[in-house]
Amino acid sequence: KCLEENGFTQTFKNLLSSLPKAKGWYSPHLYNYQGFWLTALHLEGTLFFQQNFHARDSDILLVTSPKSGTIWLKAMVFTLINRMQHSVLSKEHPLLTCNPHDLVPFLELNYAQEKNPISQEDDSSLTSPRLYSTHLPYVSLPESVKNTKCKIIYMCRNPKDIFVSLWHYISKLRSQESEMIPFEEAFDMFCNGFTMAGPFWDHVLSYWEKSCEMTQKVLFLKYEEVKEKPFLHLKRLAEFLDCPFSLEEEETGLVDEVIKLCSFDNLSNLEVNRSGKTMFGNDNRVFFRKGEVGDWKNHLTDEMVDRLNQITEDKFKGSGLKL
Ligand code: A3P
Repeated sequence: KCLEENGFTQTFKNLLSSLPKAKGWYSPHLYNYQGFWLTALHLEGTLFFQQNFHARDSDILLVTSPKSGTIWLKAMVFTLINRMQHSVLSKEHPLLTCNPHDLVPFLELNYAQEKNPISQEDDSSLTSPRLYSTHLPYVSLPESVKNTKCKIIYMCRNPKDIFVSLWHYISKLRSQESEMIPFEEAFDMFCNGFTMAGPFWDHVLSYWEKSCEMTQKVLFLKYEEVKEKPFLHLKRLAEFLDCPFSLEEEETGLVDEVIKLCSFDNLSNLEVNRSGKTMFGNDNRVFFRKGEVGDWKNHLTDEMVDRLNQITEDKFKGSGLKL
C-alpha cells in the first residue's frame, strides 16, 4: 500500500495537490506538510491523528527520525514500564514472540492503515500508561500531546549512520518491486532534507530545544550514548518515567537483564524477528541490520563525510547540540 496513492478521498487528493512535492524513497512522492516531508500515507494518518488523538497525562510517546533506533527504544521502554506484569526473565516475555513494532503502535500509521485503530478516549487494548510512537516532528504533534503531561522520549542518531541505515533499509523494501535509487542520488536527497519526516536536522532540533525547555516532559537520548553506557541511560529512562529501579532490582542485576533482553544480538536472533512479519506485512528482519555505531566509515566517501559534517555543524550552530 505504501507505493499507492489511490484509494484516498477527493478532499485528501486536493490537499496533496496543493502541497510541495518531491521524489520519494519508497513511495512515489513526499509531500511537505508543516515544513517536513511525509509520504501520502503518513500524511493521511497524521491528519487523522492530529484531529482525533487525545493524549492523557500518563501517556508516553516515543519519537524518532527513521533509522535512529526506534525498535530498540520501543523494546527498552516497553520492558521497563511493564516489568511488574511481565518479568524480564520470563520465558513468556512478549518481546520473545512479538516484534517491538507490534507492541508499541505508530500513531500516524495505525490511523492511516486502520489496523488496530486507536480509539480516542478509551484504548482498552493498552493499559495505563499507554505507550505509542511516532516519527512526526514536534510541530505536527496533536495539541493534546503538547498540553498534557504526556511524556516524550526522543532518540536521535548520527546522520551519517542514519543515511547508511536508511539506504540499506529502503533497498530491502524496494528489492521486490523496483530498482533502488543510486547511492549518490539518495545521499543528495538526504542532504537536501528529502526524507521521511525530514529535514533530519530540523526534526532533531525541534525536540532538542523542547528537551532543554521542558526537562520533565521531553527526554533526549542519543543512540551512540545509549549503546556506550546502556546501564546509565536505562536508569535515566526509568527515572524520567517515574519508575526508577529499586536498590533490590539493581543488586539482583535486573538492569543488565533488560539490556540483554533488548540487545541487538538477542532481538535479531529471535525466531519472530528472523522470519515473522509485522501487522503491516513487512518482514521483521528488515529492522535489524548491524546495530553498530560508525558503519558509515564502510560506505561514505571523504567528500560525503565532509558534506554531512558541514551541514550538521551549520544547522546545529548555537544550539549546544552535537552529533
Ligand atoms: P543499522 O541499519 O545501522 O544496523 P529503526 O528502528 O529506527 O528503524 O532503526 C533501525 C536501526 O537500529 C538499524 O541500524 C538496526 O540494525 C538498529 N537496531 C535494531 N535493533 C537494535 C538494538 N536492539 N540495538 C541497537 N540497534 C538496533
